[in-house]
Amino acid sequence: MQLDSSNQPIAYWKGLIHQYASFLPVTADTPVISLHEGNTPLIKLDRFVSAIGGDFDLYLKFEGLNPTASFKDRGMTMAITKAVEKGAEVVICASTGNTSASAAAYAARANLKCVVLLPDGNIAMGKLAQALMYGAQTIAIRGNFDQALDIVRQLGETGKVEIVNSINPFRIEGQKTASFEICDQLGRAPDYHFLPVGNAGNITAYWKGYREYEQAGRVKGLPHMCGYQAAGSAPIVDGHPITAPETLATAIRIGNPASWQGALDAMQQSSGWIDKVTDEAIVEAYKLVANTEGIFVEPACAAPLAGLIASVRANRIPAGSLITATMTGHGLKDPDRAISCAAQKPDLCDANLDSVSRLIGL
Ligand code: F0G
Repeated sequence: MQLDSSNQPIAYWKGLIHQYASFLPVTADTPVISLHEGNTPLIKLDRFVSAIGGDFDLYLKFEGLNPTASFKDRGMTMAITKAVEKGAEVVICASTGNTSASAAAYAARANLKCVVLLPDGNIAMGKLAQALMYGAQTIAIRGNFDQALDIVRQLGETGKVEIVNSINPFRIEGQKTASFEICDQLGRAPDYHFLPVGNAGNITAYWKGYREYEQAGRVKGLPHMCGYQAAGSAPIVDGHPITAPETLATAIRIGNPASWQGALDAMQQSSGWIDKVTDEAIVEAYKLVANTEGIFVEPACAAPLAGLIASVRANRIPAGSLITATMTGHGLKDPDRAISCAAQKPDLCDANLDSVSRLIGL
């Protein structure tokens, strides 16, 4: 086995900072904190597309296969690396769950103290388990994400803590690498890119990534950016902040996105759109992608899939288009929701061959 200068086998994927260093604000001396995030699969869906009556190629970028099972690891490897580089000792974030899981993991690896503020009662169980296991100080506030982020911003002003929410520009830098990977995997830019929108950092990051790759001559052309919010938490679509956002897709239960302007820029500059879908439509798409393709995502990811279904019905997508969609988090993050949404409960029976055979219909 051949080893490189850091004693890793040559063929190892060393993480996105290593892979895309020339596009990132790092130097040879930057102390990279990585869990080998990135390099997630781009999966072509055929059964799902025919089930929804589409006439296009659809690929899912399955970001649930990152080390903490969400796309946040892309931004977090950068944010924690830069926090270590500047000598920070405490990192903090507000979160609907995934950012806190990722921050807690990377902080553990970097030996930094991590504090996370979560909206009490509106966190998927897997995400809470992660923050606790990785050893973050976990604070559940009696309020929502927007209120938690407001407190975090004020704490950031003391200069004693490093904020690792996506208002930290290094988060956007890391997350933009997903666009690079998609272009590398497809050998071109897609025609449309669908993704969920919550605090709006990710749509901002993807658009930045696509533009930088095009400017660098790696691809020709840019996708239309198509973002989806949940109907009860759709400030960008409704045109004003929502004080009491609601949706079962708790990851995107956000009423006043920090990167609102970034999302508008992405939509306008790419001639795309930002739209909203109901919780019922989200659940329908959530189940459909699992049982037609074997891809289990968390409910927020189903928002753009529900949006795609609506776009097909509205004849919004030209035939033959190449579409990519980001599946931002893994379905196992939110097992309670999955069990409550599944059409089927386990069949219970006695422990003998006859009972089981009868249930199967043999
Ligand atoms: N999908 C998932 C699974 C998320 O966790 C988030 C955001 C989004 C989509 C929306 O991305 O905020 O960049 O527009 N989760 C944040 C968190 C808010 O705290 O984990 P965005």
